[in-house]
Amino acid sequence: MPDAAVLEQEKDTVKIVVLGAAGGIGQSLSLLIKSQLYYVVRSNKRIHLALYDINRDAISGVVADMSHIDTPITISAHYPDEENKESLKDCLTNASIVLIPAGVPRKPGMTRDDLFKVNAGIVSQLTDSIIKYCDLKKIFILLISNPINSLIPVIMNRFKYNESITKDTNIEKRLFGITTLDSTRGSIFLKDTINNLKLTSGLQVMEMPHVPVIGGHSGDTIIPVFSQCSAADNLSQDQISNLINRVQYGGDEIVLAKKGKGSATLSMAHSSFKMLIKFVDLILGNCNDLTITSFISLKNLNQDNEIASGGKELMSRINNLNYFAIPAIVTINGIKEIKFKIIDYLNYNEFNDLLPICLKNLKTNIVTGESF
Ligand code: NAD
Ligand code: LMR
Repeated sequence: MPDAAVLEQEKDTVKIVVLGAAGGIGQSLSLLIKSQLYYVVRSNKRIHLALYDINRDAISGVVADMSHIDTPITISAHYPDEENKESLKDCLTNASIVLIPAGVPRKPGMTRDDLFKVNAGIVSQLTDSIIKYCDLKKIFILLISNPINSLIPVIMNRFKYNESITKDTNIEKRLFGITTLDSTRGSIFLKDTINNLKLTSGLQVMEMPHVPVIGGHSGDTIIPVFSQCSAADNLSQDQISNLINRVQYGGDEIVLAKKGKGSATLSMAHSSFKMLIKFVDLILGNCNDLTITSFISLKNLNQDNEIASGGKELMSRINNLNYFAIPAIVTINGIKEIKFKIIDYLNYNEFNDLLPICLKNLKTNIVTGESF
């Protein structure tokens, strides 16, 4: 197995860290990175995958197994250890991207909010290590653990608490709560509906519609914007309402199907991998910027020049929130501006029915996180 300390010294290494890598999401996501990233990004730079979990036996086994996969992406295992007190330091030093799926998942009958206390403790500790060991002017932090709506504020507060260290880093522009799974669900549920109803939607057989989703990541804080997806144009209002409800509560379907053995892992690994690819491309210089929808801090953010009246109206409604899931343009220096063009028109139902409920519940979730 490669020596992590040697790899870390290499300046031309893109280092991807997964914290909580032995879990359901962590393992499947790490597998996608180790086995597929090599094929989807082109680079002469070395890519290293550093996997950390508190479950020592599990992470050692996972990394031993993955080290037999024949791609040039190197891999190392990290876990808390009496002998090696520096395991998180070794893992996080020189990281370019940190993905965090560490935390407990839901069981049937639970809401994401029920996970708050335990997972807030876990992500707070991990944030302290990120502050200690990462270059905060360079790092991108991608949070997976739930409840996203409250944990992103918890992480931001850890940075504020350590302001003497994090000052001038613009870290709020480098922190992203991953909400991609909602959009992934919107796309496949819409495609299935179109296929089942044998509708003509203008989509080719192998074409997937893209459904923008904004707001937050739980229940009615999730706003799927089907009005901005032309493939949904031929659906009735009832069909759209069913789709909205299914996207909002899609997580529950998986929790019930797994019968107490956790929540979505494979579809989430897929969704976070889609997002990760964009960040790796950005870091490798394959693109100058990327557009991504995620749950972000709205502090000090510009709006793009193409903002239309619908976008202005939406902005005025979300103005008193500190966080929102919204499309944004990201450069190597972090979030540059909100990309309103994508969502500058919400239809009557989205604006008047979905948005007010979202804002009310999101506000509560954010306050919970900010008061932790
Ligand atoms: P899991 O229980 O299978 O895995 C979690 C892993 O985290 C375990 O291996 C555990 O040992 C590890 N862990 C716990 N505390 C840790 C710590 N302090 N440091 C490092 N590792 C630690 O759970 P999962 O199914 O992989 O889900 C993980 C989280 O992701 C849950 O909170 C779940 O709700 C959330 N999730 C989010 C989305 C999303 O769309 N954002 C989707 C699905 C699941
Ligand atoms: C999901 O949307 O599937 C995740 O947030 C996991 C969950 O608890 O539903």
